[in-house]
Amino acid sequence: MNVLPQGKAWGLLTGLLALSVGLHSSAWAQFEPRRPTAPQSPWMDRTLSPDRRADLVSAQMTLDEKISLVHGVRFPDFGLPPTDPATAAVLARSNGGAGIVSGIPRLGIPDLNMADAAVGVTRGALRSRYSTALPSALALAASWDIGLAEQYGALIGRELRDQGYNVSLGGGVNIAREPRNGRNFEYQGEDPILAGRMGGRMMRGLQAQRVIGGVKHYAVNDQETGRNTANAVLDKRTLRETDLLAFEVAIKEADPGMVMTSYNRINGDYASENAYLLNDVLKKAWGFKGFVLSDWGGTHSTVKAALAGLDQEQPEGQFFGVALKQAVQNGTVPISRLDDMVHRILRTEFASGIVDEPPVHRVVDVFGGLAVAQQVAEQSIVLLQNTRGLLPLNARRLHSIALIGSHADVGVLSGGGSAQVDPPGGNAIIPPPLAPGSLPFFGGVVYYPSSPLKAIRAHAPQARVEYDSGSDLTSAVALARRVDVPIVFVTQPMSEGRDAPTLALPDNQDALVAAVTTANPRTIVVLETGGPVTMPWSKHAGAIVEAWYPGIRGAEALANILFGDVNPSAKLPVTFARSEADLPHPVLPGSDITPEMRAFPGAPPNAPKFPMLPPFDIPYTEGLKVGYKWYDAENKTPLFPFGHGLSYATFAYSGISMEPGRITFTVKNTSQRAGVEIAQVYVGLPPAAHEPPKRLVAWQKITLAPGASQTLTLLLEPQYLSVFNVERDTWEVLPGEYKLFVGSSSRTLPLTGTLSLSGSRTR
Ligand code: BGC
Repeated sequence: MNVLPQGKAWGLLTGLLALSVGLHSSAWAQFEPRRPTAPQSPWMDRTLSPDRRADLVSAQMTLDEKISLVHGVRFPDFGLPPTDPATAAVLARSNGGAGIVSGIPRLGIPDLNMADAAVGVTRGALRSRYSTALPSALALAASWDIGLAEQYGALIGRELRDQGYNVSLGGGVNIAREPRNGRNFEYQGEDPILAGRMGGRMMRGLQAQRVIGGVKHYAVNDQETGRNTANAVLDKRTLRETDLLAFEVAIKEADPGMVMTSYNRINGDYASENAYLLNDVLKKAWGFKGFVLSDWGGTHSTVKAALAGLDQEQPEGQFFGVALKQAVQNGTVPISRLDDMVHRILRTEFASGIVDEPPVHRVVDVFGGLAVAQQVAEQSIVLLQNTRGLLPLNARRLHSIALIGSHADVGVLSGGGSAQVDPPGGNAIIPPPLAPGSLPFFGGVVYYPSSPLKAIRAHAPQARVEYDSGSDLTSAVALARRVDVPIVFVTQPMSEGRDAPTLALPDNQDALVAAVTTANPRTIVVLETGGPVTMPWSKHAGAIVEAWYPGIRGAEALANILFGDVNPSAKLPVTFARSEADLPHPVLPGSDITPEMRAFPGAPPNAPKFPMLPPFDIPYTEGLKVGYKWYDAENKTPLFPFGHGLSYATFAYSGISMEPGRITFTVKNTSQRAGVEIAQVYVGLPPAAHEPPKRLVAWQKITLAPGASQTLTLLLEPQYLSVFNVERDTWEVLPGEYKLFVGSSSRTLPLTGTLSLSGSRTR
């Protein structure tokens, strides 16, 4: 046996060790996270305030360095390779997101690597990266759960860092003023307070991961039709109390680093050069300290935009590059304004933690992400209708189940456009004429591999569970007749860049549901939609479940709800109209203008085309009457009202009492099942306020054991009781009688009371 003497063996070992240490310090160094070489400079002192640090570093910067911070370099991974070496050098450092701003390595200022991340980190496929595809943001809003919103944001923030990003471009809080808006799935519903609180808390969770976050698209980007040319027309009071209120609430909640302007015009001026929106409201009235960046290609001028308050052009420097430098040199834009832009960007970088603790690449926590995605889906799927207690299903009593339509054998639908999270393994369906598993194209229809068929089979192992594509009515009806329970899946694919032409489900799906529900009254209809749709067949459906775009664990969450392992608790964050005719704008504004249709550059031949329209006005004549406020004021009965959502438990409300600033009442679980209720408080302002009949002002989500009750005291935030006085440019509580309504939806309000207030300025 060749045995080395002990001393020799040790020598060999230490020699090898030394060799590996040597290797580590040389060859391995290239695998260290790339950090800008940060000199030990005064602005690297973490004990100083972000403002002070920004001032110290900006004092060292040349004019060119300042200019380089206020515009993007270009959209990475898109178009021809750059010819200019400086651009190529920065792009080589890009992480592959939607944008990159060059850092200043000599001063230790990092590049800004920006990724769209509304429902998860996007654009992973090109670099083989995985991100958790969460349920849509609108689904999150249906949970009405502030804590869950924080978890949703935290997950996105963690995955951004793990992938090397330091900036999120998510955070949409445009209210669903237009229910056909193609991007409603990226936003938080129709109520400004709900949207602001949910979107804000989501962003707070994200920024807590030391990533710069923002809110968008500021403002009134409430439809995609004509988004680059349309002019939203609203009076100042309406602006402040509706669309802008959602931003105000979100900004208070999150203190975000950025605000992204919208593409459209508002009362004549583009959002990116709208001095009222940017300087007067955002920066002066709300005290926003972060920076304002334009949407991609949404900057239209140098001097006007700079003076109106835009701080950064994206994704390139057409107006804020050489042109801005010249404007500063010739004095049309004062250097103090450029310094303010730079200060805002730098102070955000220091405040967020991205300078002190740059992201380090790691493998995303896939399993942790799946758990959060499922939890959000379970909290966000809304039980709209449950005739004669059809749900929850009892697996032991079922012999046969049919799943019909919408690729329910393989996956669940997702939202398209820049919020699209790439599906692991590629698209779960094969949109012709593409190959299986191919990369999704912008605005294309993409399914995640979360199979309802598999999930339902797992819950009912003794039953025969079959799938029918729904493409042939006769076969779908025959199957529906044969089984105990048919579950028909319907989908509404939505995407950035276009709206739903009508509220009706596309592709003749209403006919499929009508036929199946007629064939078997025990039919369950599952909707996967970007927002509200009409349901001419609703009376005939046994149960209706709104699953939104439920994300990577959507099917598993849905099955848990259908079989009662999870008791549904979500409530609608948007009103579902009975018909198009009931909407404030029965015809989608701009949809009657003949568009020039353009495909997204580089898209395959079957890609959806995007309409380019000439300029037109959208007079938002409904004003304050957005969403449920419209139905209340116009005495219209919705199909399913805002705030509606059933549980397998039942709840009773009693014992209302109030005093200025708070309201108290009791909720009791009157069933044999544990359940979660979202108790809602609405307020009707005194007649002198000339407001819609009521507005949501508070809510609380509670879990109650069978038979248990809980007395809740909810605080009434003064601003939520206020109106915006345009002459005095302030919010005020008017003196008079305030009606309070408490209950389980905006139309089921068993408790009412009155509160007398003397009136005051809110700020
Ligand atoms: C969208 C933004 C997005 C940006 C970058 C634009 O088309 O409107 O929401 O952040 O692209 O992808």
